[in-house]
Amino acid sequence: PPLKRILSLNDMEDVAKSVLSYKAWAYYSSASDDEITNLENARAFSRFFFQARVMRPVSHCDPSTTILGYKTSIPVFVSGAALAKLGHPDGEANITRGTAPLDVIQMVSSNASLSYEEIASAASPGQVLFFQFYKHKNDKIAEERVREVEKLEYKALWLTVDAVVAGNRERDIKSPWILEDMEKPGGGDAPRSVEDIEQEEEEASFGTAGALVANDDQDMTWERVHSFICSDGENKLIVVHQTIPWIRSITKLPIVVKGVQCVQDAVLAAEAGVDGILLSNHGGRQLEYSLPPLEILYQLRQKRPDVFDRTEVYIDGGIKRGTDILKAVCLGARAVGIGRPFLYAQSAYGAKGVTKIIKILEREIITGMRLLGASTTGDLRPELVERVDWQPT
Ligand code: FNR
Repeated sequence: PPLKRILSLNDMEDVAKSVLSYKAWAYYSSASDDEITNLENARAFSRFFFQARVMRPVSHCDPSTTILGYKTSIPVFVSGAALAKLGHPDGEANITRGTAPLDVIQMVSSNASLSYEEIASAASPGQVLFFQFYKHKNDKIAEERVREVEKLEYKALWLTVDAVVAGNRERDIKSPWILEDMEKPGGGDAPRSVEDIEQEEEEASFGTAGALVANDDQDMTWERVHSFICSDGENKLIVVHQTIPWIRSITKLPIVVKGVQCVQDAVLAAEAGVDGILLSNHGGRQLEYSLPPLEILYQLRQKRPDVFDRTEVYIDGGIKRGTDILKAVCLGARAVGIGRPFLYAQSAYGAKGVTKIIKILEREIITGMRLLGASTTGDLRPELVERVDWQPT
């Protein structure tokens, strides 16, 4: 359909589903195990309602804000997601070009399908890009990657901490077999040797995601010394560096921790002096039954409101509407990240699709702010939102 018929991010997702290959749809849309957390990330928003204020002047309405000091036209950024080329030959560059006109900041995935340089060169003069950082287990290699993105003028490191192994994404793992079956006349299994089958199972058992995180550091810490009991009962100490101070020692770039999933870790992150905390469960793709980020944001607001004064807090996961964004900002999020909808938009319409969903969100946000009685993001206060203990049907 022509782009003007796309009215919402859900419409965009429908078009993407119809144009994407089976494999790309499986990789983009899948989540861990029974995909409960992915579903609940979105459903959590329907437990939060507004207590709107009326009779407030809203003819001038400005939804802009800053993230780490960089201006954005709406409180939204692109959460880094791997392999945009699976959906469109221009891949991540579609997102770079599509976000530029509206000053929305793109976080580029460590596992982008274009090189970091190709993406940087698609940017307009002055356009800000963030870098999603998967720390390699070898410090030297990790440091080289930081140097590379510093040279390309990426403005911040978003250290992903929720993916020390890949989540169990069964639709993604299955997709090569399903493709194989579809390609075979009659869909039946041709005779294969036991070795062939074992080899294929070995390769397929981790899916696309497993291959992508194989070299990442599994010993990142807030503290210096890590002790654990081995299977033979011996108590061992491994001395590892404190990851945040180590990154600080090699770069001046701001550091955001991506993938914090409880209040206690948000407090530890603030104590470690990070510049931002992204409450996230990776779009439900990592630990199944991780709580929805909106609920953690709400808990953090109740239990440790001081954290919001010490560092910027963001959430991502399941966000598709202007009202979702407004609820998060009311509860103290500086901005929200959006992952899959940007992949879908660029797959369906290239850079124009990306600009389109930002315009949709901008309109939804402005409408929502006016109806809430808010004319700037500073007016979006916790009192405007109430958590209910029932779920609308
Ligand atoms: C991701 N995400 C992700 N995160 C990350 O830190 N590094 C990565 O390479 C990727 N790759 C990736 C691929 C795909 C296909 C998806 C859907 C997600 C997680 C991403 O940054 C973000 O946390 C979620 O996508 C947010 O949830 P929504 O908006 O997709 O519901």
